[in-house]
Amino acid sequence: MSSPQKNKHSQSAGSQSVGSSGSSNSGSSSQKTKAWSGVFTEGTDRRVELFTESISIDRRLYAVDIRGSIAHAQMLRDIEILSEEEFHQIEEGLLEIRRRIEENKFPFNIEFEDIHMHIEHALIEMIGDVGRKLHTARSRNDQVVTDLRLWIREAIDRIDRRLVDLQAAFVGRCDDDFDVILPGYTHMQRAQPVIASHIWLAYCEKFERDRQRLHDCRSRVNILGLGAAALAGTSIPIDRTKTAEYLGFEQIAANSLDVSSDRDFVLETAFCLVEIAIHLSTLAEEWILWSTSEFNFIRLPQAFCTGSSIMPQKVNPDVLELIRGKTARVVGNLQTLLVLTKGLPLAYNRDLQEDKPPIFDSFDTMEAVLMLAAPLVEGAVLNRESIVGRLDRGYLDATILMEYLILQGVPQRTAHEIVGRLVRLAMERDVPLVKLPLKEFHEIYEGFDYNIFSILGAANAVAAMKSYGSTAPNQVRLQIDFWKKKIDRAYRELR
Ligand code: ARG
Repeated sequence: MSSPQKNKHSQSAGSQSVGSSGSSNSGSSSQKTKAWSGVFTEGTDRRVELFTESISIDRRLYAVDIRGSIAHAQMLRDIEILSEEEFHQIEEGLLEIRRRIEENKFPFNIEFEDIHMHIEHALIEMIGDVGRKLHTARSRNDQVVTDLRLWIREAIDRIDRRLVDLQAAFVGRCDDDFDVILPGYTHMQRAQPVIASHIWLAYCEKFERDRQRLHDCRSRVNILGLGAAALAGTSIPIDRTKTAEYLGFEQIAANSLDVSSDRDFVLETAFCLVEIAIHLSTLAEEWILWSTSEFNFIRLPQAFCTGSSIMPQKVNPDVLELIRGKTARVVGNLQTLLVLTKGLPLAYNRDLQEDKPPIFDSFDTMEAVLMLAAPLVEGAVLNRESIVGRLDRGYLDATILMEYLILQGVPQRTAHEIVGRLVRLAMERDVPLVKLPLKEFHEIYEGFDYNIFSILGAANAVAAMKSYGSTAPNQVRLQIDFWKKKIDRAYRELR
């Protein structure tokens, strides 16, 4: 066989575009440049090369592709398909290719379609016929799955670390903000008072479930596909246990057809990222509202805001708005993957090449979002005076007053009615409940006594809370201590 011809128009890894060997959009390349050229008598139409290439997207798999190939070669040496010397040649060649890619000295060209073909082609050019042995007992179908699993595994670990940073940012605020009471809302209407730190820890809980989901998902990502070959396995007596060990996979996929066709690990990961994005979009929405003049609860760090080109007074919460906005594309990426895989028959279909743009984009987006979220959470300042100044609005203590009556033996429905009438009266007078004289309380219900003044008002209402997980100061304090330890442990355990 003749060696594949070198391409004149190839470009380096550093450039944005990927070379094609002709400026016109038609014509065809020599079929001899293709790894699969044997059966072909015609070259590939240039337009087909442009249409089918994935190197512009999957070049970022280069490091995991090389890692996977070295492990595969190691296993081939173990089963004596490769000699020790051949393995070393392959390993050194692959490491040299990795260096060249990292130094932007590696030519990328759409004639070689994807990262797998590029690396193999370069290896053969570099070390000759020994390089032609690397693809033994392997297909691009199990190769691409292995690369993607390795890549996602690493990316999950990066996201996980950033989630801990974000939780740490919230926990780091809890002591300082412990004495701040904020109105809690349901239906965006003032509901009951809550300690600010209780809100921060609500987000920690959400991000903790996101971490757990990622960990759980990681166990289904961390499975060796290599060895499935194209779809049916191989007659070559490979040792998949070895390959799994070399690549740190916890399990070995048991069905070659499943390996070749399965992308549910990609979908599941994409969903985990969606949930993080959605949690962050809630935070973004709340803080955008809180930073308005109307709420005036929070001052966002100016380094995380931008101005207006026409209205000189504006300090806009663009970072939060984009965090909220970027949720859309992460949700869209999951949708793309769901539609992409729906109805695909077993086993590999080229459609599956379209899995990479959405999953890469979801990871890129969420890494960027999380990188900004933690310092933003650290840097925001609660406007205490403004919060306190309006805390007596909205009858935040009405529910605690109702519960006070219940504890006196009044049936809940009756207590609800009594307090409802009191609130109506207070509304008519435009005063908080605590400003009504006891005489007025008695007109509605005779059983009220002076003790009600020890539970009325936002601070008293919070202090009267008792249940586990509530905003009671002692409960929140317990949770803060729990979270401080948890964060310390998380940092120690991070991969
Ligand atoms: N670039 C392809 C992908 O990402 C690699 C697998 C191609 N396999 C094949 N038989 N054409 O899915």
